[in-house]
Amino acid sequence: MPCHSPLIIALDHPSLDAALCLADRLDPTRCRVKVGKELFTRSGPDVVEALHGRGFGVFLDLKFHDIPNTVAGAVQAAAEQGVWMVNVHASGGRRMMEAARERLDRHGLTTHLIAVTVLTSLEREDLAEVGVTGSAEAQVERLARLAKESGMSGVVCSAQEASRLRERCGEDFLKVTPGIRPRFAAADDQRRVMTPREAQRAGSTHLVVGRPVTQADDPMAALSAIEQELAQ
Ligand code: C5P
Repeated sequence: MPCHSPLIIALDHPSLDAALCLADRLDPTRCRVKVGKELFTRSGPDVVEALHGRGFGVFLDLKFHDIPNTVAGAVQAAAEQGVWMVNVHASGGRRMMEAARERLDRHGLTTHLIAVTVLTSLEREDLAEVGVTGSAEAQVERLARLAKESGMSGVVCSAQEASRLRERCGEDFLKVTPGIRPRFAAADDQRRVMTPREAQRAGSTHLVVGRPVTQADDPMAALSAIEQELAQ
């Protein structure tokens, strides 16, 4: 059964076994899962294959950033594994993003291709040090527009940025937002959080949730509680 949920559960686990142990406690018709750099570097395509075998849509969060031809090849490799979504850094530039888009289109691959704008870990001083003057918000907007013009289907952004990006880039442009904390959960190390409902109201199309589900005694009960918050 296809999954229509906006929820993406971040499998930030250090090993294949740990990730699958959690996945086995989730329902693939009610969420998708995100595989990031640590898990993929340890377990490689096996983890993607195992999750697909269990029926999960996979967001391969490897944030590719390299010369156009190399990124196009990496994105093609991800899409050929059948992942639902993959991402690149918008700061890799127009030609890099266009090359990735063109490669998917040429091979008839329908994986969602989205871009990361500005990492939320970067503050104004960090950006100034790498030559980005002006605010992080302005840079997010600049890169989101560039991503859209370069054929990306959306961006990863904070829920705080979602409403402005909805105005600038439209409803259909995907806004995948981490930093989500349901009412029942602790903030952990996230600074600016939003509840699932607030994030959706602000324009998020997909919500990335990690620890509130993965660290819960009963992950599926936590997922159900989030669904209820969304439905209210
Ligand atoms: O456990 P938690 O819900 O905080 O996990 C959020 C997930 O989203 C993690 O995989 C984290 O790396 C990712 N992420 C984030 N903030 C960003 C980009 C990605 O929290 N700006």
